[in-house]
Amino acid sequence: MDMKEKLQEIRQEAVKRIQNSDGLEQLNEVRVAYLGKKGQLTAVLKGMKDVAPQDRPAVGQLVNDTRAHIEEFLEDTKKRMEQAVRERKLAQEVIDVTLPARKPETGHRHPNTIALEEVERIFIGMGYEVVEGPEVEYDEYNFTKLNIPQDHPAKDEQDTFYINKEIVLRTQTSPVQARVMEKGKLPIRMIAPGRVFRSDEVDATHSPSFHQIEGLVVDKNITFADLKGTLEEFARELFGPETQTKFRPHHFPFTEPSAEVDVSCFKCKGSGCRFCKGSGWIEILGCGMVHPHVLEMCGIDPKEYTGFAFGVGLERIALLKYEIDDMRLLYENDIRFLNQF
Ligand code: DAH
Repeated sequence: MDMKEKLQEIRQEAVKRIQNSDGLEQLNEVRVAYLGKKGQLTAVLKGMKDVAPQDRPAVGQLVNDTRAHIEEFLEDTKKRMEQAVRERKLAQEVIDVTLPARKPETGHRHPNTIALEEVERIFIGMGYEVVEGPEVEYDEYNFTKLNIPQDHPAKDEQDTFYINKEIVLRTQTSPVQARVMEKGKLPIRMIAPGRVFRSDEVDATHSPSFHQIEGLVVDKNITFADLKGTLEEFARELFGPETQTKFRPHHFPFTEPSAEVDVSCFKCKGSGCRFCKGSGWIEILGCGMVHPHVLEMCGIDPKEYTGFAFGVGLERIALLKYEIDDMRLLYENDIRFLNQF
């Protein structure tokens, strides 16, 4: 085969390979194979010594033409490929400004929080202040100043988490009563919501950590009638205007007399159902007239001042109000559960 034919063949082959290249990388392989130092055209140039001297200029010209042709074709193809890549990228990166924005993921208020805000709304409406006390509390405030004697079963390690001999995780919000009374600012009309702790096993109605809302009113001439009227109004506001209230005598060390309060079942209106376990009544809180000895220990003269107090379980209210039958659901914080309230 003479030089001319050979060059013709190289040129055709190169063009075909360029046309069949799939991407810039393959294109570069073609460039190396034909134009590179060890490429086919270079090999032809090296063979020039075998060409008759008079033919050399013509063959040289032909080699250069072939090289130029392949180079040009490579360059054009490369440009077309780059353009295609750019267009594909632009198409992919188009921003449709008319699309609705992605919704930010938000959480949801916890049933405890919703119930607490409702209780706070009711008492703030009656002129109460909302105060807070420490969760890690002195034994003295959690027990002694509330008239709870040394040998009271609540003080057992089975029931109370002790930090040391003098410090406990408060088992009730009642110590806030003592803290507020000690400040000496009278009259007092406050509620104190917060977390409390008891050494209980977890089940559908128990948790080692739960919440209470304490209430305290101290003023001149406060009577049991004030306590009754206040809690009856609270029950009506919380569970609906037809709610009946029942005061059952009870014992708490820091109140005398003491009572537990039941409300008529808001589900069956008192006829008896699964909710009220057939009795028509649901227990919601403990209360009483502040024990004179407690007033005295907190620096208030029981001859001049009287008061009432109450303690409500926040989870109990939330479970009742939202008809949740397992307390554990309140602590899992599953957004699918929380979104329902
Ligand atoms: N501290 C009581 C408890 O945890 C609840 C309670 C009862 C609070 C009567 C009071 C009250 O203020 O007067 O069981």
